Amino acid sequence: MPDPAPPRIDLPSPSLVVLVGASSSGKSTFAARHFRPDEVLGSDAMRAWLSGDETDQSVTGEAFGSLHRAASARLTQGRLTVIDATSVRPRDRLALVQLARAHDLPAVAVVFDLPRSVLEARHAARPDRPFGSDVILRQLSDLRRTQGGLTQEGFRHVWTLRSEAEVNAAQVTPVPLRVDRRDLSGPFDVIGDVHGCLSELRALLLRLGYCLDGGQVSPPSGRTAVFLGDLVDRGPDSAGVLRLVMGMVSAGTALCLPGNHEEKVARALDGKAVKLVHGLDATLAQIEAGGSAFRREVRAFIGSLPSHLVLDGGRLVVAHAGLPEPYHGRTSGRVRSFALFGDVDGTRDELGFPVRRDWAAGYAGAALVVYGHTPHTAPRWVGNTVNIDTGCAFGGALTALRYPERETLSLPAQAVYAVLARPLPPP
Ligand code: UTP
Ligand code: MG
Repeated sequence: MPDPAPPRIDLPSPSLVVLVGASSSGKSTFAARHFRPDEVLGSDAMRAWLSGDETDQSVTGEAFGSLHRAASARLTQGRLTVIDATSVRPRDRLALVQLARAHDLPAVAVVFDLPRSVLEARHAARPDRPFGSDVILRQLSDLRRTQGGLTQEGFRHVWTLRSEAEVNAAQVTPVPLRVDRRDLSGPFDVIGDVHGCLSELRALLLRLGYCLDGGQVSPPSGRTAVFLGDLVDRGPDSAGVLRLVMGMVSAGTALCLPGNHEEKVARALDGKAVKLVHGLDATLAQIEAGGSAFRREVRAFIGSLPSHLVLDGGRLVVAHAGLPEPYHGRTSGRVRSFALFGDVDGTRDELGFPVRRDWAAGYAGAALVVYGHTPHTAPRWVGNTVNIDTGCAFGGALTALRYPERETLSLPAQAVYAVLARPLPPP
């Protein structure tokens, strides 16, 4: 019989990696084998650091306090951090999940669920664990009783190793977060909110030097298009825009972000109750008319989009509604919400629209942030940010930003497809 495939642990990086297992399950051995010393924070090491004795239980409380503070400092730096403590009880893990969330990074768990006989044999051979094997049995029972709830506790991934052989064969590979595409250096053509304006999009791509042959779009040599989201609603051909962009993304000639309008389409396709306003009814009708396979492709496409992207070695950040620096390259509910909806807190203006605070005014980051979401009559540069939503569907223009050239190109809308409650503001 062939050997089973070794367990693959593709660790999102950076993340908070929590090793979960009873004493003697091999956590510290595993940590030393797969991680650099600076990446591992252990409760034993903290006790030793505080009192000179890694088994001194009198400093356990302070040891965990120090462990959490050290982990917090590393996560602030965006560094992969491994917690080497038993973490067999939900209450031990809760603080760790909260810590990862507070830093907008994923928490993941590697569980050492080894047979009791292995733990007992190892424990009996250890002079450095001055407690009885009943302690290990209690930890094992805590683990087994609660390990089924790890995902619900907030761990983004859970890998469980069930034997010495599996632990020894495990392959650990750090994988950058999906939002981290610093490896892509462009050049890019970043395109603002299209909102169903297919003929303006085709005209803009032609002006940017792309070849359009029916549904096929080929970029000028080496360039990549980046769509900032809000492909759909308001304009005449949302399905056509989706087809064009989905084709480019699957051909590897474009990157795409979700806008708040795609988010709403996804919810509608999932059967959730949504208000059919701002042209969403037409978008959904067009998607339905494309048949069930197209409907599934659209849903999968929207589900696949990263909240934002960090590009070109960290020098360029793209997000539909913009993104403050502490959120760059991070992933959490609030990062996604900011990237899609902007700096909103639920308050509405006199016309009933969500009040969007001007996050760009306070931005002092090193990366150029390109975004859309709130239309103006022309591209709006504020510091090292630029909003290129120029309200095409409202009869404004469709705008692209060439990067690294930092030149904008705006083509006027061919018609007014939707009426804005108030005139487009100047930048
Ligand atoms: P570890 O010291 O790695 O376990 O291994 P642990 O989970 O971190 O334990 P605690 O929570 O700190 O107490 C425990 C013993 O098992 C041996 C190690 O050499 C060590 O003596 N071991 C570990 C093996 O024999 N084989 C392994 O694959 C791993
Ligand atoms: Mg250990």
